[in-house]
Amino acid sequence: MTIEDNIQLLLSKREEAKLGGGAKRIEAQHKKGKFTARERIELLLDEGSFEEFDMFVSHNSHDFGLEKQQYLTDGVITGYGTIDGRVVYVFSQDFTIFGGSLSETMARKICKVMDQALKVGAPIIGINDSGGARIQEGVKSLAGYAEIFQRNIMASGVIPQLSAVFGPCAGGAVYSPALTDFILMSRDSSYMFVTGPKVAKTVTGEDITTEELGGADVHGKKSGVSHFIADSEEEGILILRKLISFLPQNNLEDPPFVSTNDTIHRMEDLLNEIIPQNSNQPYNVKDVIFSIVDNGEFLEVQRHYAMNIVTGFARFNGMPVGIVANQPAYLAGVLDINASRKAARFVRFCDAFNIPIVTLVDVPGFLPGSNQEFGGIIIHGAKLLFAYGEATVPKITVTLRKSYGGAHDVMGSKQLRGDINYAWPSAEIAVMGASGATEILEGKNIGKLKTEAEKAAYTKEKEEEYSRKFSNPYEAARYGFIDDVIEPRNTRFRIIRALQTLATKKDSNPPKKHSNIPL
Ligand code: HXC
Repeated sequence: MTIEDNIQLLLSKREEAKLGGGAKRIEAQHKKGKFTARERIELLLDEGSFEEFDMFVSHNSHDFGLEKQQYLTDGVITGYGTIDGRVVYVFSQDFTIFGGSLSETMARKICKVMDQALKVGAPIIGINDSGGARIQEGVKSLAGYAEIFQRNIMASGVIPQLSAVFGPCAGGAVYSPALTDFILMSRDSSYMFVTGPKVAKTVTGEDITTEELGGADVHGKKSGVSHFIADSEEEGILILRKLISFLPQNNLEDPPFVSTNDTIHRMEDLLNEIIPQNSNQPYNVKDVIFSIVDNGEFLEVQRHYAMNIVTGFARFNGMPVGIVANQPAYLAGVLDINASRKAARFVRFCDAFNIPIVTLVDVPGFLPGSNQEFGGIIIHGAKLLFAYGEATVPKITVTLRKSYGGAHDVMGSKQLRGDINYAWPSAEIAVMGASGATEILEGKNIGKLKTEAEKAAYTKEKEEEYSRKFSNPYEAARYGFIDDVIEPRNTRFRIIRALQTLATKKDSNPPKKHSNIPL
């Protein structure tokens, strides 16, 4: 063979690999409104930055006539490239080859990029579109999954791991995304479940569609498995790129600073008036977030799940932070099982990757009732408490309004090593609200009064007394539990000053194998 022949052979092999499972199957993929594995990588990475590994890999299976069906890449495209100039590793399952199903060799390819991402200290993004274990390969495929799971576990807290689900993801295959930091699902074209509708029907008699059982809305709104719902794959990929922009490459780096033209001195007069006169009236805490962060840009995480707490990423004077905020506009911002789990996981992610946490508090307490107690709110609430107490990143807490009872302690309080705790003048920091307190403390006295008018007047008087004494920030400030009471319109400036000061913060936990967070 001449040198030219050699090159031709290489080029034709490359062409063959790029064709995946063939033009027909690519067309079928497009007809479903889906991109191919390669197109997804092209969209995700900076133009021309993709370096592919293992293009010439094919499977080693000899059962069920599989030896006669060989496709280069074996159903997954792997390699690395950049997003905004920063290295990321990727794998993208190719549904046109055996339905993207996982073979021993596919697992080996995925493990190779995972291993290298971990060595290099760069994020890994997996794009899932697969019929699960390659049925013809049997137990070898299961072993392949477990190899991936083990690497997901080892990489956890060391490099950011992101999963996009743009097609089927079923059976044990769901556990690789589940072990990663964030899952994004595309609406109408992706689903995740451990057992599908057919098995559900056989075992439980339940009639349910794929979408109803494990579609993007189910996991984005009901189960909380997914962190982002995208209306299209393009939108999903933009979200992934945006998300990466807030994250450090690994746990030894700081998150990336991005210079901003949004001045730190920006005053927001509307914040002085955002808290309604009547403290039982809601307002949207996202309005507070939008008005204090750089250019109003906020990437919300789990936007549709447990909406009584808001979590997401933003920047202050260019510095990435994770924001956790009770949402008075939904269930009065109460803490319940789902909100506790959602925020706990978010806080732990931020802490693992050196992202400071800004907490905005307006919480009436934990949601009462048998549903919550039977569901284990004690353990789930403890997760959030644990996450805050364990976190060593800079922690800034601003109490906007209510901060009652156990929920006060949980939400980034001073005693959970909150570094800088501010309160607005509208803050109410107490064991409980005035009416609850009056009922408990004065119930007997009220009962002794004869007329309803007398009871009402006495109750009002006592409630006002309690409010005066406790439903304010000054009682907590008196003991140093609040470092300062700040003017709401100045919140952006005060948070930025705090973040700047805390940039060199060092804190640690005692040496241990690992903690035993109440799971
Ligand atoms: C081998 C598979 C496959 C699989 C699909 N294909 N899934 N090949 N192993 N698991 C092949 C098909 O034979 C077909 O080949 C091509 O991929 C496209 O599949 P279609 O069925 O034509 O596509 P579609 O109608 O879109 O349906 C997609 C699907 C369906 C819903 C994913 O293919 C399906 O139900 N597959 C089986 C899913 C499954 O039971 N997997 C095992 C789960 S258990 P041709 O040649 O016709 O193009 C599991 C355990 C993991 O995953 C455990 C980890 C711990």
